[in-house]
Amino acid sequence: MLALGIVGSPRAGSNSEFYVSTALETLQAQGIETRMILLRGKTIRPCEADYKCRGAPDHRCQIEGDDFLEIYEQMVAADAIVVGSPVHFSAPHPTLWSLLVRAGFPDKAGFPNYGPGVFSRKVGGPITVARRAGQNFAFAQLLLWFHINDFIVPGSIYWNVGVARSIGDAAKDEEGIRIIRRFAENIAWLLEKTR
Ligand SMILES: Cc1cc2nc3c(=O)[nH]c(=O)nc-3n(C[C@H](O)[C@H](O)[C@H](O)COP(=O)(O)O)c2cc1C
Repeated sequence: MLALGIVGSPRAGSNSEFYVSTALETLQAQGIETRMILLRGKTIRPCEADYKCRGAPDHRCQIEGDDFLEIYEQMVAADAIVVGSPVHFSAPHPTLWSLLVRAGFPDKAGFPNYGPGVFSRKVGGPITVARRAGQNFAFAQLLLWFHINDFIVPGSIYWNVGVARSIGDAAKDEEGIRIIRRFAENIAWLLEKTR
């Protein structure tokens, strides 16, 4: 079983990376293989809304020439996906959002002209990190992506939000670490039950 962590921060050594690593380490301890992708430095152009993905034989975004496809293929191969994002103006980072929009739009299980549901019954969910406010909006935006793409999303002992501002702050966020560890334990529990 493979769990993929995707880090949406543009910063090196980001707080988002810390929380995603915390989740992946917890999953590793439960015997699950893990892989992490940093979107920092990657180019993922926004959806062009040309609907070329609809009805395309490969049922996926047809935009070429950026880093989307390589990451998308790893998402499709994973059993579990965790995404971590900084909160910027109450929203997830736009590179991560471009990836998710382009990954999700062509594909819906059971609908004509859509793909077969490449994310159906994968397990996963989001983590957001902010200094002070806007967590709920960013977290909910990402959660809605997981829901509409037919994921099974486990809970935790609180919403998966980290409180941190400068690089390194996340390591001091004891409650946040507990929340993310429990979230990852629940992913492992679900994988065990459903695979
Ligand atoms: C452009 C920008 C916008 C931000 N907007 C918010 C915000 O809306 N609310 C907040 O609490 N923090 C905000 N922050 C602070 C970041 O969320 C915080 O520094 C967080 O730790 C960044 O995570 P990272 O280390 O994973 O990049 C913002 C930071 C930047 C650079």
